[in-house]
Amino acid sequence: MSISETQIPSAPAAADSGTVVAAQDVTRRYGEGDAAVDALRGVTIDFPRGQFTAVMGPSGSGKSTLMHILAGLDVPTTGSVEIDGVEITRMKDKQLTLMRREKIGFVFQSFNLLPMLSAEENIDLPLTIAGRNPEGTWKESLLKAVGLDTRRKHKPSELSGGQQQRVAIARALASRPTVIFADEPTGNLDSRTSGEILDLLRRSVDEFGQTIVMVTHDARAAGVADRVLFLQDGLVVRDERGLTTGAIHDIMGTLE
Ligand SMILES: Nc1ncnc2c1ncn2[C@@H]1O[C@H](COP(=O)(O)OP(=O)(O)O)[C@@H](O)[C@H]1O
Ligand SMILES: [Mg+2]
Repeated sequence: MSISETQIPSAPAAADSGTVVAAQDVTRRYGEGDAAVDALRGVTIDFPRGQFTAVMGPSGSGKSTLMHILAGLDVPTTGSVEIDGVEITRMKDKQLTLMRREKIGFVFQSFNLLPMLSAEENIDLPLTIAGRNPEGTWKESLLKAVGLDTRRKHKPSELSGGQQQRVAIARALASRPTVIFADEPTGNLDSRTSGEILDLLRRSVDEFGQTIVMVTHDARAAGVADRVLFLQDGLVVRDERGLTTGAIHDIMGTLE
């Protein structure tokens, strides 16, 4: 079966689907001279509000580099990135830190929770650092949504991997960020737990209108997204919507 025959219609765009993240002609070169590596070679891409995008591609294709640049954790060699219509590419460090705190949530493969803090304290921490008070009712609905309202006093070491990742997702959602960036969020989890985490990310898009950009090499993970970008050698080579897991597999096979 060809790829186009396996596509299913994508859901209609959300009513307020303005662009929340935009990259224009982004390049990233590591190193210099003969040792230079062009990790990104001219990426122009928009992410509309309330959409779940997966970023796929072979190892070394530039996925992590792109995510770090979109999130203001790294600076492009040339080109620009806007978040909520504000160019972040030339911001000073302090401004960038504030922007990230305000507008971006992160979920990492390795959970990155603070071991001395309880689940609830981990969730509250970014807001506390930003001098904001966690909104009580929002936090309660988050704790329920991630299934941790009875484990809120537990430390990360007293929680399973899946529970720890659910804490990390609640932490990312707590500030109602403009966008959540997730880098291989299911990379350390078994298949069943991965399914629960993907389900939770999907629900945060459907129920809270969260915008998510998720880097993954797992076709099943990408299959829950609305849109899948495929990178190869530092370029976006395909931008697809409504792909089945099988179709994603087929495309990855052509890129590797
Ligand atoms: N800090 C770095 N210094 C030099 N080269 C790097 C660095 N980070 C990544 N690269 C190179 O850039 C390319 C893209 O890497 P990366 O964005 O990590 O790809 P992916 O996440 O898709 O595996 C690879 O060739 C990688 O070796
Ligand atoms: Mg990577």
